[in-house]
Amino acid sequence: MSRSKILFQLSGSIACFKACSLLSMLVKAGHEVEVVATASALKFVGEATLEGLTGRRVHTSTFESGSYMQHIHLMRWADAIVLCPASANTIAKFAAGIGDDLVTTLFLAHDFKKPYLVAPAMNQSMYAHPATRSALEKISGWGLTILPTGFGTLACGENGDGRMLEPDEIFAAIARATSLPNSELSTDAIRVLNSDKHILITAGGTEEPIDGVRSITNTSTGRTGAELAVKLASQGFAVTLLHAKNAVTPAEISKEQRIKSKTFTSFVSLQTLLSETLSEQNFDAVIHLAAVADYSLAEVESNGAVTKAPIKGKIDSGEELTLKLKKNPKLIDTIKSQAPNAKVIAFKLTRTPSAEERADAVELLAKHANADYIVHNDFEEIGEGHHPFTIYAQTKEIKKANGAAALALALADLIGANP
Ligand SMILES: Cc1cc2nc3c(=O)[nH]c(=O)nc-3n(C[C@H](O)[C@H](O)[C@H](O)COP(=O)(O)O)c2cc1C
Repeated sequence: MSRSKILFQLSGSIACFKACSLLSMLVKAGHEVEVVATASALKFVGEATLEGLTGRRVHTSTFESGSYMQHIHLMRWADAIVLCPASANTIAKFAAGIGDDLVTTLFLAHDFKKPYLVAPAMNQSMYAHPATRSALEKISGWGLTILPTGFGTLACGENGDGRMLEPDEIFAAIARATSLPNSELSTDAIRVLNSDKHILITAGGTEEPIDGVRSITNTSTGRTGAELAVKLASQGFAVTLLHAKNAVTPAEISKEQRIKSKTFTSFVSLQTLLSETLSEQNFDAVIHLAAVADYSLAEVESNGAVTKAPIKGKIDSGEELTLKLKKNPKLIDTIKSQAPNAKVIAFKLTRTPSAEERADAVELLAKHANADYIVHNDFEEIGEGHHPFTIYAQTKEIKKANGAAALALALADLIGANP
């Protein structure tokens, strides 16, 4: 379990009371926390509160008697540094290289190899002020992590931007910076951690047109893909769902703001949509569940006449219709090259009671698909309330899950922020 030494600094903002909850969370999670407060911060929250929360003395002055060279020692000691709340004044002093109190002097002694998180908290006019904007830009350029602010009612009674993130959200950002395992985080914190991760899911079966009214398709409903989309969005991920025109799309899909959905019909339309989507945006993971036709129509022979498919209009029904199919390339084999930084998750559905045949199918897919993980399920095992999935890293079994919800959680762990 990873425990960190956190140098927690407060500057003068009404949000100091929120910083106290965060301090308590950090201490409860087992981190060692040293607190430094500006003189203004101590007008908002008392030393006794800060000491009570951490069980340690609060550092307030560069020239404290008996604490020689504290500005160097504390910086050396820390694994990560947090300025929370970050006042407009202290942010501006950072950018100007001023060191007139312990917080700013510590920053001048900062070791830029260590994570330094800044959680701004201020009135919207202060936050929008050019001095604040350029100071934030400057210190961000130096490598500090500037956390976003929330929009809402501010302490001054106005509505706007500049509200400090909630303690849970800042806790998540610290966890990311210090690699705290997911198991240590609350659900809200996990949501925040995942919030800048994008997942692309393909779901449902392609439909290969014969003519304007007929097609060849498969029995895939797209239900598992839709369930994964909903569950992963509820875990904080931003999800793009490419689903077949006739796929199952529960109401949550349209209600959930974190899901963007697009439809496809044929193999070619999915292939085009997939390439466009992957070139428009970077994804952290691509979960490719769509049941893609192995063959598309090449030609149709009807009443002795051979026509290139698909045929416009409707073929007159004669005695015999001969369809010539052409093999489609495997889309899964192309995803990694189009999205080299994404974790690619391939699916294999088999229909055999033989464990050996199932293993062979996974092995074959692992050989040609450049996928990070393969999820296998077998039609024979699917029943009421029972839908087992096995996740493989190449051909090595790593996890089992029963049902789409459990599968989504297992995949969220593999895709999530803290590997
Ligand atoms: C009630 C009250 C609330 C304040 N809230 C904030 C705030 O949220 N953000 C901020 O940047 N300044 C705020 N200020 C102003 C700062 O406390 C002031 O600029 C102070 O000098 C900051 O000092 P420091 O950066 O050394 O901590 C507030 C002042 C008062 C009196």
